[in-house]
Amino acid sequence: MIVLGIESSCDETSVAVIKDEELTANLIASQDFHTKYGGVVPELSSRAHLQIVNPLVKDALKKSNIELNDVDLIAATAGPGLIGALLVGLTYAKGLAFGSNKPFIGVNHIEGHIFSGFLMPQKPEFPFLSLVVSGGHTLLLLVKSFTEIYKLGSTVDDAAGEAFDKVAKLLGLGYPGGPKIQNAASQGDGNKIDFPVSDLKQKLNFSFSGLKTAVLRYVQSQGGVAKLSEQDKNDIAACFQSAAVKALTRNVKRALELYDVKTISVVGGVAANAFLKSEITKLAEKYKKNVVIPDLQFCGDNAAMIAFRGKSLYESGVRDTLSCKPFPALSENHFLEI
Ligand code: KG4
Ligand code: ZN
Repeated sequence: MIVLGIESSCDETSVAVIKDEELTANLIASQDFHTKYGGVVPELSSRAHLQIVNPLVKDALKKSNIELNDVDLIAATAGPGLIGALLVGLTYAKGLAFGSNKPFIGVNHIEGHIFSGFLMPQKPEFPFLSLVVSGGHTLLLLVKSFTEIYKLGSTVDDAAGEAFDKVAKLLGLGYPGGPKIQNAASQGDGNKIDFPVSDLKQKLNFSFSGLKTAVLRYVQSQGGVAKLSEQDKNDIAACFQSAAVKALTRNVKRALELYDVKTISVVGGVAANAFLKSEITKLAEKYKKNVVIPDLQFCGDNAAMIAFRGKSLYESGVRDTLSCKPFPALSENHFLEI
């Protein structure tokens, strides 16, 4: 089976081809020009997707030594994401499917992330714990099969990646904040300032806005960001990163005590964070679980995960229609309740 996947939910246009079990292309065009605006400008993002999606599809087919006619299924991200950006990839994919008379599946971007560990040589084993940490979402899930996903907790305010981005902005480190914070933190002392680690004690939920405010108050107490030395900024980044990672790993630990799982999988853009990876790996060793954290190319937004999710849904019997619409947000009851 050959699946063509298309992703355009935010600032990456990506096209991938999966031939049976093999990923033969995963092309990612990142819109780096948003950096100068300090965040993604939705309208500019849509225009950039529009310019690149068609050539990228051609390149992905060529790289895989196939033609559109050889494709058995077309899958594209339907949401959540920026509505204009989603519209470009989704409408393009539907047009391609309609014109070539191929089946089409609209994929949920978060589900794409959840199953992105299956793109790795060592795959998650069901049931597994999935920690989804991206710029827009923070979710802890119990994944029993390709179609049974239970929500154990989610953020009640900011997403983990959003907190990294906001703190980086506050410290004047630039965008996207995650890699900048990680870099600064690697040269800082993570024990210098005691930032609060939120503990909601309600389900396995997360909160990051208190931590973000604590960083702001601390910076203000030092006379503002202009008064901070490079070393001060590195220390703040390290202490923030340490508190944010503690908040994430604590709920993973609690979930491990409540549910019998085989694997812990951390996915989404923040899964690229080296400190988070090492803390999760330590936890997994203690609880004797496998860890699956996708390679960098599968942590951020990519079409390989969309093609894989489309394929797994299709193989589970799901048949979508071309009337599938783009959606900006994940509905509250999208996942099953435990
Ligand atoms: O999954 P993703 O690429 O896009 C969304 O669907 O949101 O995640 C992007 C997020 C951004 O907030 C970015 O700052 C964060 O992932 N991120 C990181 C790192 N690399 C990217 N956060 C912490 N440490 C990193 N190394
Ligand atoms: Zn994402």
